[in-house]
Amino acid sequence: MSAVAQIDDVSFAHPGSELRALQRLSFRVAAGETVAVLGPSGAGKTTLLTLLDGRLHGWRGLVSVLDAPLDPDQPQPRARRADTGFIFQEFALVERSTVLRNVINGRLGRMPPLRAFLGNSSPRDLKIARDALIDCGIADLAERRVDSLSGGQRQRVAIARCLAQEPLLILADEPVSNLDPARAAEILALLTGAARSRNATVLFSSHQPELACRFAERVVGMRDGRIVFDAPAANLTNDTTAELYRETAPFSRPSLRAVG
Ligand SMILES: Nc1ncnc2c1ncn2[C@@H]1O[C@H](COP(=O)(O)OP(=O)(O)OP(=O)(O)O)[C@@H](O)[C@H]1O
Ligand SMILES: [Mg+2]
Repeated sequence: MSAVAQIDDVSFAHPGSELRALQRLSFRVAAGETVAVLGPSGAGKTTLLTLLDGRLHGWRGLVSVLDAPLDPDQPQPRARRADTGFIFQEFALVERSTVLRNVINGRLGRMPPLRAFLGNSSPRDLKIARDALIDCGIADLAERRVDSLSGGQRQRVAIARCLAQEPLLILADEPVSNLDPARAAEILALLTGAARSRNATVLFSSHQPELACRFAERVVGMRDGRIVFDAPAANLTNDTTAELYRETAPFSRPSLRAVG
């Protein structure tokens, strides 16, 4: 299978920070995979997803997304950005706009620049946005303002907006962190199911190992900017995830072998 994302020996420190948020990281995601990234706070999950979204600068090493290398010194071209969808932890929705308008915004990167600037959506854009609302079970909320919605409903809007973009790679940063367990499972089922039916590749970060294993086929554990395990979800044990989140003690080799 071809690689949708490939990272070779990448190191990165955020501007003004001494600490390397990513440390000599190497990682490959194949087309169609669903991968969960676990790890304690500060492990580098958001940094990794942001890197793949082409929003970091000045890293060292090689990064390639959708068969094209990213340039650490240049912003990514608009056409390229349209193929990668990002679902933010805080949704990043336009609160005072309607649900439908927010979802149509997912089409902006696919519209000719002038039309995008004027916010003139075509009938096709509208149809794609309405289909995404149906897929996310929120067609009845189309005309509601986002600031009147619950956390779970907002998350559905954020996913619908991402699907409307028709991305080949979906990056989701803790997409269920604000939801109760039943709602979280529902949303992850929706996200991974919709991605699969569109042949999109998904990488999502999470603090919930049990859910990650249920909805991803592969789970990556990060700590201190490094990948400490990378295993099929079915092979992951409770001991391994417990060790990942332990306060001190670096990851020990035996459990690495246990999941490898
Ligand atoms: N904008 C920034 N400026 C400076 N340092 C940053 C910035 N963003 C993140 N960092 C640092 O980079 C490291 C990795 O942070 P990152 O946000 O990637 O972790 P995370 O695994 O997503 O954590 P969480 O689970 O809390 O979301 C941390 O040490 C963090 O303090
Ligand atoms: Mg984060």
